[in-house]
Amino acid sequence: MARLVVVSNRLADPRKAAAGGLAVALGEALNQSGGLWFGWSGEVVEDAARAPDDGLQVQPAGRVTLATVDLTKSDHDAYYLGYSNRVLWPVFHYRLDLADFDAGFLSGYRRVNKMFARHLMELLRPDDIVWIHDYHLIPLADELRALGSRHRIGFFLHIPLPPPLVLAALPGHEWLIRALFAYDVVGFQSQADVSHFERFVMNEAGAEKLASDRFRCYDRSVVARAFPIGIDVDEFQRLGQMREAREMYETMREQYSRRELLVGIDRLDYSKGLPQRLRAFRNLLQDYPDTRDRATLIQIASPTREDVRAYTTIRRELEGLCGHINGNYGEIDWMPVRYINRTLPRRKLPGLCRASRVALVTPLRDGMNLVAKEYVAAQDPADPGVLVLSRFAGAAEQMREALLVNPYDTQGTARAIHQALKMPLEERQRRHAALLAGIRAQDVHWWRRSFLAALGDEVSAPSEESYEPAEEAR
Ligand code: G6P
Repeated sequence: MARLVVVSNRLADPRKAAAGGLAVALGEALNQSGGLWFGWSGEVVEDAARAPDDGLQVQPAGRVTLATVDLTKSDHDAYYLGYSNRVLWPVFHYRLDLADFDAGFLSGYRRVNKMFARHLMELLRPDDIVWIHDYHLIPLADELRALGSRHRIGFFLHIPLPPPLVLAALPGHEWLIRALFAYDVVGFQSQADVSHFERFVMNEAGAEKLASDRFRCYDRSVVARAFPIGIDVDEFQRLGQMREAREMYETMREQYSRRELLVGIDRLDYSKGLPQRLRAFRNLLQDYPDTRDRATLIQIASPTREDVRAYTTIRRELEGLCGHINGNYGEIDWMPVRYINRTLPRRKLPGLCRASRVALVTPLRDGMNLVAKEYVAAQDPADPGVLVLSRFAGAAEQMREALLVNPYDTQGTARAIHQALKMPLEERQRRHAALLAGIRAQDVHWWRRSFLAALGDEVSAPSEESYEPAEEAR
């Protein structure tokens, strides 16, 4: 069978519990099959100290080989902080107002993708299957093809793809979309994302639709389909039985025996709708007096991308809101909001989730959101909590039995939270059973298998289609 090569900006040692999201999912996918995982080491070196081999390190980690390179400070600024997180992240989350279209960012982005391609080409065997992840690396297949790669190459976008007219505001969007045609399969989180891709390539790029999920453009054809990412349900439940999760559960149950606990677990990102969530919680306390002195929100907001201005702004806004709510509604022996601006060790998460009556997963826009799935996996099926989920998270396409809310409507969200707090046991059990069955049926293993099946997992023959690199379009 062909070797699997995974490429992502971030990677994590698959033998250790990682911080969450993409790195956990990829670690789990690779642990199943073994293979090579290539990406950034997380190290930033001074420009003058750039090593001729970019600090390439190849090391075994169980069944997986990790290969990493360092970034220089100027590459990190332009590629990671710049084009990835000040251009693509806001635009793909529909936030044109937060995008900074500095031309220097794009050249850094292309430079790092070229550098990744160069090192990767040296590590690739002819029959490898290459699976590239997320918005940092959209042009990587194009760069590999330019170096002569005939491999099967797939791409999975972990974040949303916005509607055509939002995408069209991005200078150079044609180049990015064309770069997607260097892949054999392009995967998205949701049907909504696929429909945006389809409308874009058909209307803006003049693509031809060859089959329900196959498009031809720029003399190449690509399969584009939704592969909603899942979690490893068994692994998360096992984590829940371990000491740290059990201790967390017991401490919370004890401390909050008179209260009802609500939980939010997010990176402190403007896409997560945290200020809106806090305002909804304030509306809850305001409009439903029975929740005062009872409902306590624990909000974990892990620091992230703090060198990007939009992230410091959101942090200040959130701190102000928490202080305001606690000042107005708190009592000597009750603080409505416990706000924690740190990352909670993953081992404790299942305990916190299980002790919480309600989870608030209310992003303004999210590719998928795996916290929603982890919360469901952590519940006691005999007495489960309720998931309040934004209709704008990719997860909402699958998790119809959650209480779906519009996070911009803070009164409507407060109403849903109140409904969640009052929900009878039988209804909670029914909704939870359906949600759990769904996340089990489409777990992380299903995700990996279905993507790789689409990419022709068993096929070791190199791709037959000819490839013309997108050079003239650059
Ligand atoms: C999201 C992205 C990932 C990214 C993660 C953490 O989940 O889709 O690609 O790795 O956020 O963000 P960071 O910038 O710290 O890698």
